[in-house]
Amino acid sequence: MRTIILLAGIMMSLSTVHADTSRFLWGAAFSSHQVEGGNDKSDWWDWEHVPGRIERGETTEVACDHYNRFREDFALAQQLGLNTVRLSVSWSRIEPSPGFFDPRELNHYRDVVMDLRARGIEPVVTLHHFTHPRWFHEAGGWTSAESPKLFAAFAEAVATALYPHVSIWITFNEPMVQITEGYLKGAYPPGISDFKTGVKVFENLVRAHAAAAKVLREHTPPSAKALAVHGVGIALNLNVFHPAHDPATEAGQEDLKGIAVLEHLSGWAALEALQTGHLAWDIPPIPALKKGHREALDVAEAAHSLDWVGVNYYSRYLIERDPSNDLGVRWIEPPGGGTYPEGMGEIVKSTERHLSDRLPIVVSENGIADALDAQRAGFIQRHLESLRGAISTGSDVRGYWYWSLTDNFEWNSGYSPRFGLVEIDYATLKRTVRPSARWYHDFIANHPEGP
Ligand code: BGC
Repeated sequence: MRTIILLAGIMMSLSTVHADTSRFLWGAAFSSHQVEGGNDKSDWWDWEHVPGRIERGETTEVACDHYNRFREDFALAQQLGLNTVRLSVSWSRIEPSPGFFDPRELNHYRDVVMDLRARGIEPVVTLHHFTHPRWFHEAGGWTSAESPKLFAAFAEAVATALYPHVSIWITFNEPMVQITEGYLKGAYPPGISDFKTGVKVFENLVRAHAAAAKVLREHTPPSAKALAVHGVGIALNLNVFHPAHDPATEAGQEDLKGIAVLEHLSGWAALEALQTGHLAWDIPPIPALKKGHREALDVAEAAHSLDWVGVNYYSRYLIERDPSNDLGVRWIEPPGGGTYPEGMGEIVKSTERHLSDRLPIVVSENGIADALDAQRAGFIQRHLESLRGAISTGSDVRGYWYWSLTDNFEWNSGYSPRFGLVEIDYATLKRTVRPSARWYHDFIANHPEGP
């Protein structure tokens, strides 16, 4: 009897009471390639099958088998009381060859979003989360002047197939990570390391966002207006950068100059372009660009192309001037690690300072790799406290999506970083809700209107 009562208690503690989607969006995020398994038509598939690239030689043949088990995963999201799930659709599945949009795959994603909606969960759909069809990569990827048009055609196929079931869209996840890792450091496909190419790619991504945004807005149903945010967003990777030296010293002043370059590149240049239609490059001479780069590009089609801004925030770095590095700066992990909850509020405030359009903010990712689940609940709690501080001093933050719903394939690091609210046993694919997820459930239940 006691056992039954106890079990009932546990079930109750995960009872599904969704927070009101008109007030605050509580959720968790993941991307297709990292969980689905079997995305064999993508550039990442080819990348990860080159020996030595991924830790322990891990690949995504199976990943979490989310492609076949999405209902099971969404049932868990429902039990956690999430009112939003941020997912991505796989471009390489949907458009395996140029111009052919596979109806079976579009139907699959229609089933995915319909399943979420049937559970009272609002789907948030990201179109681009680092991976591409192999053919797109072979056709020059983002260096090609055709790329914005190709991306817009993909956006149109997705938006048409999913209409009217999706009200919240993200065009690009962390465009600057795509540029840095793919075209500056060469650590992600296509493995290019060339600053000038990176600058061109940046412009094409802005144009691609603008072209897709137009299509997505046309395919956002009128009912979307009832949600805390709706329409088109972008998820920017925004770290907190602090000077390694005391800013009162000359070294500290140099660090601050380096930080200005980093912040411009990683967030503010894109955010400005997507609001004003002007992409301003203002990079002083750095080792990668001996003469610096000053250029004002007209990207008029991108003006006012955002309805909200997504902030992906994970950590803080100390920045030191370092002439031997391409960007002229060195990133240092602070003593004790990069976790810095106060940065949540700091990054929201600095994002706001770069808004010329009145755009609400959503924390589109925040999370910690913690296999033992010893720190996750505290991590989320402290970040939410900082977020609460920002909101109480006037910041317009409308949602928080924890990264990630389940453990997943962490790109070049393979499967060992464990970000999930739900643990995956990769041998059996069994899902286990972690204690921190139960904590998150209770927090959401007690804070339906936001942290
Ligand atoms: C990316 C995810 C990644 C996560 C954790 C984010 O920058 O969007 O794909 O798994 O960080 O590293």
